[in-house]
Amino acid sequence: MSNERVTTATFRKYHAEGKKITMLTAYDYPTARLVDAAGIDAILVGDSLGNVVLGYGSTIPVTMDDMVHHVKAVTRGVQRAMVVADMPFLSYHLSKEESLRNAGRFLQEAGAQAVKLEGGREVAETVKALTEAGIPVMGHLGLTPQSINQMGGYKVQGKDEEAARKLIEDAKALEEAGAFAVVLECVPTPLAAKITGDIGIPTIGIGAGPGCSGQVLVTHDMLGFYGQFSPKFVKRYANLHEAIMQGLRSYREEVENGAFPGPEHGFGLDEAVLKKLY
Ligand code: KIV
Repeated sequence: MSNERVTTATFRKYHAEGKKITMLTAYDYPTARLVDAAGIDAILVGDSLGNVVLGYGSTIPVTMDDMVHHVKAVTRGVQRAMVVADMPFLSYHLSKEESLRNAGRFLQEAGAQAVKLEGGREVAETVKALTEAGIPVMGHLGLTPQSINQMGGYKVQGKDEEAARKLIEDAKALEEAGAFAVVLECVPTPLAAKITGDIGIPTIGIGAGPGCSGQVLVTHDMLGFYGQFSPKFVKRYANLHEAIMQGLRSYREEVENGAFPGPEHGFGLDEAVLKKLY
């Protein structure tokens, strides 16, 4: 793995070579540092920030200011990975000017290298305007959480012929509009593989099977940060919840029983100085 900054050119190179692209989320400086040091190619500052870090029930309440704040923290911790900033709900729907201004903030103010936005044909004009302004855009199709109220729940998408054809056409529209990659979320494995074969840009799957050009997961899910339910498509690579709870409980016990702090955690005082104080 080279230490060179990952760019859209790296995505194209990996895609041409058939090398899988790795992507994970991060929302803060320490996590970004760890993900980058692990050699992950791209870090998505997802609007899943709303669910994972800010404690909302969905991504809808997340604002541009929330996102810029967290993208800044992430970019300060990253040297190699491409940082992709998620455009939050309604930040790219009001007008072309507003979309450009918001996407521009992520690159100019927060130091991201690309933005991601949800939708297919209906956002193609926006994708075109952003890419023409020099802002690399990653698309996002399938389960698009910002439309959760319209979709009626977090469900697998593209299950019948009409919906599947629509996803294929949307992926082609995003490619044509200039997107450099597209996330496929909760799309049946064979359909995601067909889309990947039908378009010339890489697909990044989440709940879309192994036929995609790369994979993304929410870091808190794959590291088991929350002890509760996680979606079917998540594989847990660690149990942070257990490790953290164990550490927190040990700290409480040791403070309560006097085992912490020990002499090695304190600072001495010259005997002569001490004597004068008594
Ligand atoms: O916000 C996010 O984390 C995402 C990923 C689930 C792809 O959009």
